[in-house]
Amino acid sequence: MPADLVIVANRLPVDRVTQPDGTPGWRRSPGGLVSAIEPVMRANDGTWIGWPGGDGSGEDDLEPFEADGMQLVPIGLEQDEVELFYEGFSNATIWPIYHDLVAKPEFHRVWWDSYVKVNQKFAAKAASLASEGATVWVHDYQLQLVPQMLRDLRPDLRIGFYLHIPFPPAELFQQLPWRRQILEGLLGADLVGFQLPGGAANFVRLVRQRVGHKTHRDLVYLPDGRTVRAGAFPISIDAAGYEKLARTESVVERSAEIRKALGNPRKIFLGIDRLDYTKGIYARLRAFAELIEDGHFDVEDAVFVQVAVPSREQVEQYRILRDDIDRLVGRINGDLGRIGRPAISYLHTSYPREEMAALYSAADIMVVTPYRDGMNLVAKEYVATRTENDGALVLSEFAGAADELRQAWLVNPYDLNGMKSALLEAYRSDDKDLTRRMKAMRKTIQKHDVAAWADSFMTELAAVSHSSHAKTVR
Ligand code: G6P
Repeated sequence: MPADLVIVANRLPVDRVTQPDGTPGWRRSPGGLVSAIEPVMRANDGTWIGWPGGDGSGEDDLEPFEADGMQLVPIGLEQDEVELFYEGFSNATIWPIYHDLVAKPEFHRVWWDSYVKVNQKFAAKAASLASEGATVWVHDYQLQLVPQMLRDLRPDLRIGFYLHIPFPPAELFQQLPWRRQILEGLLGADLVGFQLPGGAANFVRLVRQRVGHKTHRDLVYLPDGRTVRAGAFPISIDAAGYEKLARTESVVERSAEIRKALGNPRKIFLGIDRLDYTKGIYARLRAFAELIEDGHFDVEDAVFVQVAVPSREQVEQYRILRDDIDRLVGRINGDLGRIGRPAISYLHTSYPREEMAALYSAADIMVVTPYRDGMNLVAKEYVATRTENDGALVLSEFAGAADELRQAWLVNPYDLNGMKSALLEAYRSDDKDLTRRMKAMRKTIQKHDVAAWADSFMTELAAVSHSSHAKTVR
């Protein structure tokens, strides 16, 4: 059935997995993108096109299906597309460039060719499903060519694009051999959304310099009379939903259970991240270990729970990171732990929302220290679950969330001593200070929730689209 709202993202909200007994099953997909779009989809009755994960085999049996009341349309990737488009161009070229070159990007022409081909596949599917004049909302760095490809196929559509990760400064972006094609791909949209104003400004400047279009503030004027708007739309979470979850009896009980299982220490530090080199996991664990070594506290007083959600495990940089973290955790626990009291409780796994909420509730100090992060929804989820207005957030200045969560202990993750001081301050801070900070942050999150984010993007998209059509007619 043709749809009035089509969401196009590389991932579907569920991932196809093979269960222990060999039968196929579904599991919630990792990452912030999925958690943000899911509530929007439920509210708007849209159709969601995406890849259901997997290794690239078994493409034939993919039929549209309904899950949790959402219309999902799977697009299978062939094995070579998983390697070249997903692991290659998306996650070993674009991802590191867009994250400040935290790792070294690789440039391969065959990766690019596959990126073009897969983007074409997504565009064709969206074109075939959208009703006349429908709105199509394309998401993230894996699909930057889709807006223009879709416009070529279906000029009647309203097209929005949203980038969930940072958009880099010109100095980094221009390393990309395909920089012009990517900018032109994005310009197929009526509205291009970014997390922060800086990303939007980088984009407009690059369009002016590299494509040569006229621009004024957040507008790009195309030769055919169409205008494209670039804007900042900081993404958020379902704050009320998390708060409610944190108050449910089972989560409250589970939270107490977690504290007990950890030996009821005075303070629990917590990190939850996809196992990604942008997240700064290594440096944060070192900072924590040094605080014990320096004698500020003991393994009886404090424990660090680090949940590392498996991610992109076939990509070399991610394998290296995993080995590095495994080794570091082993060394820290070997040096500092006692029987029944490891310094770091390390979990390489993903958890359902309920368990995450229980972990957030159990933790006294949430540590979010990425080198670069579009937003970081974990920071916001922690704040939303602190229904008693307690708990401390230590947050990297280089996460988008730092723009809004000003009352966190803000740190530069490259500065180990600075990070140690912040962790220690958070550890020692009194209840009054904690309450003051947390109250302010909770207010921010409650007001700027994911529904407000989606509303503002959609409202703006409707407005831009009208004015651009009017221009074409004139
Ligand atoms: C980030 C990206 C998403 C991506 C998610 C999980 O949040 O912005 O586009 O889906 O990470 O990564 P994966 O490669 O598993 O989809």
